[in-house]
Amino acid sequence: MQARMVTPYRTALITGASSGIGRALCLELARAGVHVYAAARRVERLQALVAEAPAGQVTALVLDVADCETTVARIRALDNECGGLDLIVANAGASPAHDVPPDAWETLREPCHTNFCGAVATLTAVLPQMVARRRGHLVGVSSLASFGALPAAVAYSAPKAGLSMLLACLRLDLRGTGVAVTTVRPGFVSTPHVASSPHPVPQMMSEAAAAALIARRLPRRPERIDFPQPLAWTTRLFALLPEWLRGPILRGVTKWSRS
Ligand SMILES: NC(=O)c1ccc[n+]([C@@H]2O[C@H](COP(=O)([O-])OP(=O)(O)OC[C@H]3O[C@@H](n4cnc5c(N)ncnc54)[C@H](OP(=O)(O)O)[C@@H]3O)[C@@H](O)[C@H]2O)c1
Repeated sequence: MQARMVTPYRTALITGASSGIGRALCLELARAGVHVYAAARRVERLQALVAEAPAGQVTALVLDVADCETTVARIRALDNECGGLDLIVANAGASPAHDVPPDAWETLREPCHTNFCGAVATLTAVLPQMVARRRGHLVGVSSLASFGALPAAVAYSAPKAGLSMLLACLRLDLRGTGVAVTTVRPGFVSTPHVASSPHPVPQMMSEAAAAALIARRLPRRPERIDFPQPLAWTTRLFALLPEWLRGPILRGVTKWSRS
């Protein structure tokens, strides 16, 4: 029999909960006894998640995080209703479409609104309340793609790098307040998100394995959860190379060309 995970959380909000990593993480935490508020736009998928989770452990929250003002208002109301959220995971993520001109505003708009602004709204909505309670854990799901520039990745990597920076700054500012901040940077996880990737996808993990790894490490409130190894280390070291050297190597690996 599998041992039940011990969790310090009573309540959690997870965005991007209707599929992939977010959905699998909701199930992990719900099975560990956490009351999870599962947020996304597709209501029927959220209802299926509620049905699959242990009875009463998951509440669906229909939310478009790109609508930042509504997101902040809904999370503040939720925080009031549940007596204080212990854990907030900004996981919702949009992939740029591949059938639009690269690097045009139309390509960047949704990833910027969802992956950066939506995450900022999610993470800061009840930050003053968490600080006042001297309790809380903020988690942002960024990406190994945030370490350094990649070809054909402006729309994805730039908002993710912004999110990583936001989390690092918050970590500095919140030291000693009782509120922890964790940056999660996955490599490749087998979800709809990567299904149409034009890039090679080494060391692909299942969404269940990725969620189990995140759920296991979160209670220690680490600064970072980067996975899988050695891809995380390779990416980090590769990012240290000068651009004149990285560019040709990356173009060779990805066979990417603008022409
Ligand atoms: N899979 C990977 O290899 C990988 C690697 C690195 C980082 N990540 C990051 O991990 C996170 C989860 O990705 P995933 O792979 O699990 O992708 P996924 O299966 O495509 O799930 C994306 C989730 O985000 C939600 N979402 C998208 N736009 C939203 C919006 N405006 N408001 C609310 N929810 C929204 C989607 O739900 P609705 O459509 O129902 O709203 C869905 O639940 C993302 O931030 C992604 O960038 C993934």
